[in-house]
Amino acid sequence: MVAAKIAPSMLSSDFANLASEADYMLRCGADWLHMDIMDGHFVPNLTIGAPVIESLRKHTRAYLDCHLMVTNPLDYVEPLAKAGASGFTFHVEASKDNWQEVVRSVKAKGMRPGVALKPGTPVTDVYPLVDDEVPVEMVLVMTVEPGFGGQKFMPETMEKVRALRQKYPSLDIEVDGGLGPDTIGQAASAGANCIVAGSSVFKAKEPAEVISILRKGVVEAQGRN
Ligand code: DX5
Ligand code: ZN
Repeated sequence: MVAAKIAPSMLSSDFANLASEADYMLRCGADWLHMDIMDGHFVPNLTIGAPVIESLRKHTRAYLDCHLMVTNPLDYVEPLAKAGASGFTFHVEASKDNWQEVVRSVKAKGMRPGVALKPGTPVTDVYPLVDDEVPVEMVLVMTVEPGFGGQKFMPETMEKVRALRQKYPSLDIEVDGGLGPDTIGQAASAGANCIVAGSSVFKAKEPAEVISILRKGVVEAQGRN
């Protein structure tokens, strides 16, 4: 059985107080911290890069689950490894010609490779990356169009999660976008075990409660299967 990982998206945090926001999430029961790296080109938004990861790393030993919404993921491997990133999840749409090189260099630098796909991208596009002799270790199924927090969960993406779980029983499958107490049931029963949640956690009065609801959702769905 794949372990439940709850990863608050720090995109919804107060960036001016990133270290204390991160600490707070960990105290609330977060397993990972999800870090959204956007280049203003692959997506129409610009967020953080390696210098911010490096600063945060000085304050925490937590698993930094980096989600790269960038046009040239290969350029970010070395700087993010040096900065202390843990997971390096790049988009399949941005690495059509060089994903093997990206995955190999991510692993060589001691990070955990993952691949993400946008809502419109067929799930079959990531199969070669999971089947390769140097495979990605996580697939992130975007459940909104990447770029911004606070969007509405797209249930039609669950078909991809189901297909992945059926084909790869022990793969880490992450969902990202619009996840919260109202949508966790759908994602967890489709087979997702890594749950990214930004606004639902940060806007809650009791983030710890939301994190625990998300975890329970995954654990209970696994018990039913
Ligand atoms: C969107 C980002 C997400 C985002 C999720 O492009 O990849 O990680 O922060 O935020 P919510 O949970 O608010 O949809
Ligand atoms: Zn993300």
